[in-house]
Amino acid sequence: TWRMDSFVKESIEEIRNKVGDGKVLLALSGGVDSSVAAGLLSRAIGKQLTCVFVDHGLLRKDEGDEVENVFGPNGQFDLNFIRVNAQQRYYDKLAGVTEPEQKRKIIGEEFIRVFEEEAKKIGAVDFLAQGTIYPDVVESGLGGESAVIKSHHNVGGLPDFVDFKEIIEPLRNLFKDEVRKAGLELGIPENLVFRQPFPGPGLGIRIIGEVTAEKVKIVQEADAIYREEIANAGLDRSIGQYFAALTNMRSVGVMGDERTYDYAVALRAVNTVDFMTADSAEIPYDVLQKVMSRIINEVKGVNRVFYDLTSKPPGTIEFE
Ligand code: XMP
Repeated sequence: TWRMDSFVKESIEEIRNKVGDGKVLLALSGGVDSSVAAGLLSRAIGKQLTCVFVDHGLLRKDEGDEVENVFGPNGQFDLNFIRVNAQQRYYDKLAGVTEPEQKRKIIGEEFIRVFEEEAKKIGAVDFLAQGTIYPDVVESGLGGESAVIKSHHNVGGLPDFVDFKEIIEPLRNLFKDEVRKAGLELGIPENLVFRQPFPGPGLGIRIIGEVTAEKVKIVQEADAIYREEIANAGLDRSIGQYFAALTNMRSVGVMGDERTYDYAVALRAVNTVDFMTADSAEIPYDVLQKVMSRIINEVKGVNRVFYDLTSKPPGTIEFE
């Protein structure tokens, strides 16, 4: 659209003026905001931008590769892209940990450590870029409700572990829908631009109890099937947020002539205005049934599927 066209042009101008020949560092999560910030900065200053993308092994299926395809050396953006494959590091740290807040804390702290190590290798930068958007500015000012109920590791103060002079937040005045439009304008693929909200701790809070590599694989596969069928049913842009989670429950089932003792997957889908309250979405029964049968047949280790009807409150959208 005309407005986004001019926003992108003007931002590129502004970024160039502000950054000069300085170096910029951005933590790229693969989420909409940091992706659009990366795209915009890349168009403005090219290789003066370095993006660090930490794959914590708690991303959705194929997500790490998708991010790399767009922003890595074979993608369409000019920038320095560093992917840190920290999967095993996170799994080691999370082994044996079951308490939700402790899990969040470990994931958040490990991110800081990994990022800090990369930042040290890069050395001093002039700017630290952040994909802060307008609602973040407002919410953190008011101390956003969910930030209090659950510790959000990606909301809050400035990192003090990176050697930088100034912060740069090119999306600070945009609402989410405007960020998406800017992303399309910049040529970022639709699957990234219309990505669902995904929590910083990732699948770590969609696996109830202890996180293991095996459980991550199960929830990734189940979630990919769920998303595929929701898209096939044409519901992917009308449901607020939907995902599969892995309950910590195993139960007895039967497969062919065999008794099974496997995990139960929970399907979540909610509609919400502001993520402070939410209602479970009414998904047609035949869609749910298809998802259930595909998950049971295609995902090893699962023999039961539940649909979560709980609204928020009293439930939260995520499981931990
Ligand atoms: P809850 O579970 O609190 O989730 O009802 C509300 C919304 O926030 C997302 N969420 C997070 N986002 N870091 C994030 O960036 C987090 O730690 C986090 N925890 C929850 C959740 O996906 C939902 O959209």
